[in-house]
Amino acid sequence: MRHQLFRGGLPRRLTTGRRTAGILLAAAALVATAVPVSSAMAEPGSTAEAQHSRTPPYLNPRVPTAQRVSDLLGRMTPAEKFGQMTQAERGSVDADPTRITDLNLGSLLSGGGSTPASNTPSAWADMVDGYQAHALATRLHIPLLYGVDSVHGHGNLVGATIFPHNIGMGATRDPRLVAEAEHITATETRATGPQWVFAPCVCVARDDRWGRTYESFGEDPALVQRMESAIDGFQGTRTKDLARPDRVLATVKHYAGDGDTTYGTSTTNTYTLDQGVTRTSHQRFAAVDLAPYVTAVQVHHVGSVMPSYSSVQWTDVPGSTPVKMSASKELLTDVLKGKIGFDGFLISDWDAISQLPGDFATQVRTSVNAGMDMFMQPYNAPQFEQTLAAEVQAGRVPMARIDDAVSRILRAKFELGLFEHPYTNRANIDTVGSPAHRAVARRAVAESQVLLKNDRHTLPLKPSQRIYVAGVNANDLGNQAGGWTVTWQGQSGNNAFPGTTILQGIQHEAKDVTYSADATAPTTGHDVGIVVVGETPYAEGVGDVGNGGHTLNLSATDRANIDRVCSAISTCLVLDVAGRPQIITDQLPKADAFVMSWLPGSEGDGVADVLFGKRPFTGKLPVTWPRSEAQEPINIGDAHYDPLFPYGYGLTTRR
Ligand code: GLC
Repeated sequence: MRHQLFRGGLPRRLTTGRRTAGILLAAAALVATAVPVSSAMAEPGSTAEAQHSRTPPYLNPRVPTAQRVSDLLGRMTPAEKFGQMTQAERGSVDADPTRITDLNLGSLLSGGGSTPASNTPSAWADMVDGYQAHALATRLHIPLLYGVDSVHGHGNLVGATIFPHNIGMGATRDPRLVAEAEHITATETRATGPQWVFAPCVCVARDDRWGRTYESFGEDPALVQRMESAIDGFQGTRTKDLARPDRVLATVKHYAGDGDTTYGTSTTNTYTLDQGVTRTSHQRFAAVDLAPYVTAVQVHHVGSVMPSYSSVQWTDVPGSTPVKMSASKELLTDVLKGKIGFDGFLISDWDAISQLPGDFATQVRTSVNAGMDMFMQPYNAPQFEQTLAAEVQAGRVPMARIDDAVSRILRAKFELGLFEHPYTNRANIDTVGSPAHRAVARRAVAESQVLLKNDRHTLPLKPSQRIYVAGVNANDLGNQAGGWTVTWQGQSGNNAFPGTTILQGIQHEAKDVTYSADATAPTTGHDVGIVVVGETPYAEGVGDVGNGGHTLNLSATDRANIDRVCSAISTCLVLDVAGRPQIITDQLPKADAFVMSWLPGSEGDGVADVLFGKRPFTGKLPVTWPRSEAQEPINIGDAHYDPLFPYGYGLTTRR
């Protein structure tokens, strides 16, 4: 039985959304055919008419957005429309920004690590404004949208506040905190140029072997939906706040089922899960993978959606073969735009259409006709525009589809206030990485910590205790931040960006601290041993288990450090700094206490705050903790559910 999302009827919530969307679209359709109201309404010969005749409606902020869209669309040539649907990577135009004008580009992005030469707030704003000037030099002066992956703070920018990755934010179970964090991220992002973020990921991570598990709020779609307060943090109220200097357009990604693929089905590089195939029924897909998008659209009014590289293969449709999300008209148009009522625009993932069957023309045609609106074509924007023009010319892509896509994109630009204020409002630029922002991140770190074991009341620690700290992740900012930090994959070490490590946090609290990364310093005379284990940074499928040596198992070094410290010091605490649960079944009995720290970001003090009782442990597991890698995928609700720690587990030290 197919889920109602895929059939005529719709649940009330969806019906309401659909009805609202229908009213919106009907109104837009009405306006699209009318003569611009403002010029028709002005009295003949009046000042108003003279005023209006000089200022076209699309440039008049007093004119309703739908009308401005319709007026501008009516003035555009096909080439200008194709340009609006094209996004290039900044690196492809940086040497000759006039290409922005020549190509009528609608958008640029900074891919992970694509930063101005001097990676400072003002250099970012200067860079984006420099590109913007070339967009405004086009015939109709349509401003650029500039997108960036602010997935845990404005991570590409050195000095930005770096928050815990989403899996840690999911552990907080604190939607208000998530909204506050994303409002800070929006402020630091917008103040330095970009008006659009490719965040939040509302992926539902069902297999922890996935390299993007840490980008997920968790395995339960209901938890992911609760954390969609992130969208409100980014956008505020979309129709009211998007033009503000502390708000950005949000993108929920990756639509849909990116975290629900079957191990071994990826054909990208040597990935095993990322960009693979989600094998599921319509009913289960709606419940697990689609549900976050229903609320993102209907409750939070998200302005943009990024389809996933992954594919869906229907188990309830005999003979079904995998269909890439970027090619699925059923899911992009019929379901997302039709039944769910999405009125924003779809942005493809990085060169995603190159993974579709057929030649480039077929890939372009298939995805546009499926409902994709803007195309992230990092280095082949000219070819994309030429190919799209040829497909429209040949009648294989209807102009009505082009007009729908361009209307959606223009609406976002009007809502962002870019026609009135195309350049960066730098009023908040001095708040980037401010103590106030870092204090919120520090609180997020504290609330994200999950206490899994606390025998003999090991925690909270006392400042008077003599503490021995060891481990690869005790004093490494890069490792505690993970991927999408200054560079795409992230990097180990303490030289890339400012912050406090977990060791520094401990040293701020206790007087007598010995640090020995490899636990070779003498251990005698200490009251407590702390071993900080975990992963090194990765992003996307690079981190898939089975790819490049990645595993859920602890490294030999981590196991040796635990053995050495926990056998020598009477009280032993292990912290795990990683993007997902690691296999600790054999090591757990050796520790008196165990804390999952996830990827806390720049504010290591937040870990010390809960270790020393300045804040209580309150975090809860957002994903199930397996006994072994072989148990994956393992999720709440499974039959024969026997994890090491269940979803939602977490001890508290709240008095
Ligand atoms: C990447 C990711 C996506 C990101 C985009 C732009 O491949 O899949 O999450 O937003 O490219 O960096």
